[in-house]
Amino acid sequence: MNVSDSELMLGKLAAEGYTPVDSPEGADVVLVNTCAIRENAEQRVIGRLGEMRRHVGKDTILGVTGCMAQRLGPRLLESDTRVSLVVGPDAYRSLPHLIEAARKGERFAATDFDLEEHYEDFQARRFDGVKAWIPVQRGCDYRCTYCIVPYTRGPERSRRLDDVVRETREIVEQGLTEVVLLGQTVNSYTDGTHDFADLLRAVGAVDGIRRVRFTSPHPNDFSERVIAAMAEVETVCEHVHLPMQSGSSRTLKRMLRRYTREEYLACAAALRAAVPRLGLTTDIIVGFPGETDEDFEETLSAVREVAFDDAFLFKFSMREGTPATRLPAELLVPEAVVDERFDRLLETVRGIAREKNLRRLGERMEVLIEKEARKGGDMLQARSRDFKTVIVPGDATMIGTYLTVELTGTTGSTFSGTPVSVRAPLPVA
Ligand code: 5AD
Ligand code: SF4
Repeated sequence: MNVSDSELMLGKLAAEGYTPVDSPEGADVVLVNTCAIRENAEQRVIGRLGEMRRHVGKDTILGVTGCMAQRLGPRLLESDTRVSLVVGPDAYRSLPHLIEAARKGERFAATDFDLEEHYEDFQARRFDGVKAWIPVQRGCDYRCTYCIVPYTRGPERSRRLDDVVRETREIVEQGLTEVVLLGQTVNSYTDGTHDFADLLRAVGAVDGIRRVRFTSPHPNDFSERVIAAMAEVETVCEHVHLPMQSGSSRTLKRMLRRYTREEYLACAAALRAAVPRLGLTTDIIVGFPGETDEDFEETLSAVREVAFDDAFLFKFSMREGTPATRLPAELLVPEAVVDERFDRLLETVRGIAREKNLRRLGERMEVLIEKEARKGGDMLQARSRDFKTVIVPGDATMIGTYLTVELTGTTGSTFSGTPVSVRAPLPVA
């Protein structure tokens, strides 16, 4: 979501005549787009701001945007005198105006929510030449007790379906074939007339689109209609990132996730039944206040039962102003216990992924080449429809193209693949 917001801001500023530069030295304006989801995300922002202060000239306008800007507002102006603008996620429209004001020496925090704001008229300036992020919903109406998002991104609102389709068409015209629909609980999408099933069908039917993904759904919003659309629309990829957060119903209740362990497992099973070869990934929080050894064991067993293809694990981070701050202090899980649980969970997740991946060696599949592989050496990083990373040989001219590969090796988490030529079916005489 933050990458997508950065693309919108860059687009807006480009329309006003600004051009992006590669380094902060010599920049007229430096904006640090921020996340507030966990304490360490904010620590990194503070580090980055310190770095910027050392690199930018005295006339450079330094601004902070995004969730941390929203959360701290004027407090950021007080704590960092070098920062002259603080702009929350619903106020990017005012950026050019605020930058002009900052040039005249003013300092400003713009943090009002705007329930109508979708930035539809902004021409996103995309970083990625292969897949396009499309924000379809902003904000969140859930109130998970650990989460800062409802306070930094405001209430949930969805963009109009026809506007999302228009943007998808433009993306295809620019030569991209994959889109990722974005929303905090993206499958609760509704524009008053259409639900997320309608959106998947409409975007999936745009001429030239080959892959549709979305992130992140909430288990409670996987209606039968949405699951049916996933199963029926060929361009919708066989992958769901379905945040579980915990496998213990007791913990889930304290988190106010609004589902039980059994309901989560049923949702995963329904998705798997409807979509053959579905890749399933998740988010899990370790050490939520009150999490006992028994609760944690339930998370481990749920992870084994679902057999996730991958999982992002997070140590619980207390966020100021969230309902979790009101839980009794004696419920806090000691750091050493959290560390130990985190390591055990990571080992479990990796073990399952490794086992599943080993069983897939020899399989053939279509991948989309995304970029040069990190290790270089004429290797490219590609992605399968079910979200596996596959490293293939080739050169940069192949980026953005599709290839059929055979999976020949795995590190346990990623694959190496060898291109295979697929013979076209013979024409019928
Ligand atoms: N502490 C730890 N992890 C968190 N997440 C959200 N809020 C917190 C928090 N306070 C995690 C959730 C979410 C992911 C984006 O970040 O797992 O799905
Ligand atoms: Fe946060 Fe819960 Fe909303 Fe996700 S659904 S953004 S975890 S409040």
